[in-house]
Amino acid sequence: MHVIASTAGLSRAEAYRSLNTQLAGVLTGERDGLANTANMAALLYQGLPDLNWAGFYFLRNGELVLGAFQGKVACVRIALGRGVCGTAASRRETVIVPDVHAFPGHIACDSASRSEIVVPLVHEGKLRGVLDLDSPNLARFDREDAAGLEEAVRILLTGSDLDRLADKA
Ligand code: SME
Repeated sequence: MHVIASTAGLSRAEAYRSLNTQLAGVLTGERDGLANTANMAALLYQGLPDLNWAGFYFLRNGELVLGAFQGKVACVRIALGRGVCGTAASRRETVIVPDVHAFPGHIACDSASRSEIVVPLVHEGKLRGVLDLDSPNLARFDREDAAGLEEAVRILLTGSDLDRLADKA
């Protein structure tokens, strides 16, 4: 069992340093993509405050398909360019949405979601999918979240084999 160290009282940057050290520890010695993405979704969901969803979509046959996550049942397939996830995937850059109701084309999986951040999974120039976090709070995510989550994605992608989960585009 892995007990997630508390990040209470830490600055946002310090909290991500702690979480990413824990993530690297949890992934050490294991390259299975499903196991590692499942544990990463759990670590982020439990370790970060004010989330109602945390998980992955993987690129499969040209669309995003739901992967490991924590939170409510979610929509399974998202076309590239659609919603926040498809936008981050097609731009290959992190997208922060302070108010999902103001984002044209936002796909509502959980009506509690008010803000969202999506980080693309890009490894060695190839798009593999996205990491998606939702919050019930307005403007929950900022540039420090983007930096911390981009580092988390780097740790995942360098230490995991996603070939059975995702195409490479
Ligand atoms: N809101 C996302 C869809 C995925 S759910 O939030 C889990 C979007 O607009 O792409």
